[in-house]
Parts: sequence; structure tokens; C-alpha cells
Amino acid sequence: MLLFLGKKKCFLFILGTCILTFCYLKANIPRSSTTHSKPVRYKPFPQYCSPFLSRRGAPWQWRDRLSESYFTTKEPNCSRIAEELHFITAPLSREEEEYPLAFIITIHKELELFMRLLRAIYAPQNVYCIHVDAKASQQYMTIVRQLASCFPNVFLATAREKVTYAGFSRLKADLNCMADLARSSIPWKKVINLCGEDFPLKSNLELVQYLRNKPWDKLNMTPGIKQPPSMRYRIQIPYEEINHSYMAPKGKKYRKGPPPHNLDIYFGTAYYALTRPFVDFVLRSTVAKDLLEWSRDTYSPDEHYWVTLNHLKDAPANNLEGKWSGDIRALKWKHYEEVKHKGCKGMYVRNICVFSLEDLLWVTNKHSMFANKFQMQLFPKAVHCMELWHRQKVLRQAEVPIQPEWRLII
Ligand SMILES: *[C@@H]1O[C@H](CO)[C@@H](O)[C@H](O)[C@H]1NC(C)=O
Ligand SMILES: *[C@@H]1O[C@H](CO)[C@@H](O)[C@H](O)[C@H]1NC(C)=O
Repeated sequence: MLLFLGKKKCFLFILGTCILTFCYLKANIPRSSTTHSKPVRYKPFPQYCSPFLSRRGAPWQWRDRLSESYFTTKEPNCSRIAEELHFITAPLSREEEEYPLAFIITIHKELELFMRLLRAIYAPQNVYCIHVDAKASQQYMTIVRQLASCFPNVFLATAREKVTYAGFSRLKADLNCMADLARSSIPWKKVINLCGEDFPLKSNLELVQYLRNKPWDKLNMTPGIKQPPSMRYRIQIPYEEINHSYMAPKGKKYRKGPPPHNLDIYFGTAYYALTRPFVDFVLRSTVAKDLLEWSRDTYSPDEHYWVTLNHLKDAPANNLEGKWSGDIRALKWKHYEEVKHKGCKGMYVRNICVFSLEDLLWVTNKHSMFANKFQMQLFPKAVHCMELWHRQKVLRQAEVPIQPEWRLII
């Protein structure tokens, strides 16, 4: 018991000190047949979330529970974890069951937020590859591994990178997961990548409907345009990852050669929803492999790799005229203040707003698939309200009977 407390305190300390973070960026769950007799202490539903929640339905109650306390023993109690952490353990509609999604989640800290993200997007028909930064602590890794071991459709990437912001390693982390997902027996249709500070705005049903209907049914979503001159520096001189922490140009006397196969380099977001045939193409094609090698010493290659390949004539589900279409992320860039949003009520970190409670009306009115960024240490209430808002929507759309433990009693 003492050991247990000591570990937990240590863990909380680690969480507490990592305030400034950034984004690199059908389940056979054993269920206990017995029902709980242990009384739980409920808190009333928090008033501060009410502007974002529908008044319909029974009043909600919630209970605060630190999720890492489930992972202190050697063998996690998986039925207890699934139930008490409110994972949804059955497909909620036929439509979702027929269209499994694959997710790649790249994480390095913010463990509690990751668990909340995972339970928000978890569905037993989907598949989840978690890439844990090779720099993360052993304890962090152990907890994520234990959590994953409770779900047959959640696994850790078989190859791990020490991820550097804007470095090749960030792209490689995604590719490691893709190689694992390509071998998965789960018939997933599209893969979405996320980082630990994202949170969904769409329910799984809404994601499926967005991705399987026109125009996206036959297209990859990886928005971007021909690389503008202002971004050319990224590929003109070689960059290197310093100490697995930042990227630096190698020096003016070095010059990179032109891209292979006379490729036109595009510039776009590092986030995507890609079809499975496209992923297979990326993993096999010589052009993709050559572009990958050439990209090794470029700045932020994840912002040109996917979108460039999506403009190849022979790439499956390519989107040659796609430009910036595709609503992947809602975020508040500092330099779009007064243009696309009325300022960040939370706090800017690397020029992107970390949302606070007062940003949530803006966030929840967006139609993007996900929103970024959230941080438990800075604005925990914003995360709680997002969870409640999202789960309420998910359960309202469900076409199957709702099990009591799916209600979010945090
Ligand atoms: C797991 O948790 C459930 C519910 O809390 C409990 O009934 C069960 O005995 C636990 N199993 C083990 C192996 O500890
Ligand atoms: C790399 O890290 C080491 C140890 O943390 C430090 O001593 C060194 O100055 C760092 N080098 C650079 C170039 O940042």
C-alpha cells in the first residue's frame, strides 16, 4: 500500500510538472457477471458545463476518479477498467459496425488526457495504434501498455521513435503505426491520426458518416496546396534533429538536391483521414519510399509527405484538386485572431490556443472532426465539459440499448 501511494504521488508530480506540452506532432472485454454492490459517492453535475449540454434526459451525475490508480498492480483488472472508465463496449449502430475506423495516436505525456481521449473515440469495431514516444518514462509506458492490453483492438506500435517536434521522427512514428495497421485483420476503411491533446467533436457515427459519404467516400483527406515560396526553406537546406528535441539547419554551405521523380512538393496539414488502399500504396510504392528517404533531413516532413503523395496520379483515392478542403481540426492559431476567431480565452502554447471553458462555445459550434488543444493541467474543466458534451451526443445517437456504465460518471 505504501509503495502504491509512493508511486502514485511520484506520478502525479510528473504530471504536474509537465505543464508546457505540445503535440508532435468487437471487443471481447471480459465482463464480470456480478453487479456492483460497492456504494459510490456522486457529485452533482457541474454547473459550469451547462451551456454546452442539452437539458434533455435525466440529470447527469459524475464522480471524479484518477484513472492511473487502475494501473498499479501487475495485472490490470480489465472488466473493472472498461466499466469504471466508461468505455463503450458494443457497436452503437449498424452503420458504424460496417465501417470500422483505424486511429493512430501519438503520445508522450498528458497520460490522463490520453485516457480520456481514448475512451471518447473508442468503439469495439475500430482499431487503435498507440505510438508512445521512446523518450517517455518506463512507468508511462507500462500504464499505456496495461490499458491497451485490456482491449483486443488497441495495441502499441511495434517500433518506437524518439519524436522531435517538426522532425522526420514524427512522420516515422505515424508510418510505424501504419505498417502495423496494414497487417491488422480488422477490416478498417480509413485511418485517422491524432495526438494526445486532441479531442473529438464528432461522434464515431458522425465520423463514419462524414468519411463514407460524398465527396469523401472515394477520397483521402489531407488538405494542402502546392508548396508556397515562404515554405521552400524547409526543403532547400538539410535539417537535423538535435538531441531529439528540436530541428536545426545544417548550415548554409549545404544544399539539398531536388525531390525524387521530379515530384511537385505540396504543403499542408500533418493530419489526415486516408483510405486503406492509399496506406498500402504508401508502404509499397517506390515513389513513396524515395520521397520518404529524401524527406529524412527536411523540416516538418509530415506537412509535405501525405499531401504530396495524395497528388500523385496513380495514388489510390487521390484528391488532385482538393486544396484546403476537409475539416479535420478546429484550432485557434494566434495569427488568425480577429480573422477566424475572436481570441483565445485559454492560453497560447506554440501559437495554438489551449482551450479553456470560455472557448468551448466556439469549439462546440465547429463542424470539424477534432479540436486541438486541450491540457488537463491548464484547463481541466474544459476537458471535463468536452467529455460530457461528447458522450451525451454519442449516447443520444445510439441505436442499441444503452448500458448504465456507458454514462459518463467521471
Ligand atoms: C475485478 O473487478 C471486479 C469489479 O470491481 C471484481 O468483482 C473482480 O473480483 C475483480 N477481479 C479480480 C481478478 O480482481
Ligand atoms: C544536448 O543535450 C546535452 C545533455 O542534455 C547537453 O549537454 C547538450 O548541450 C545538448 N546539445 C545541444 C546542441 O543542444
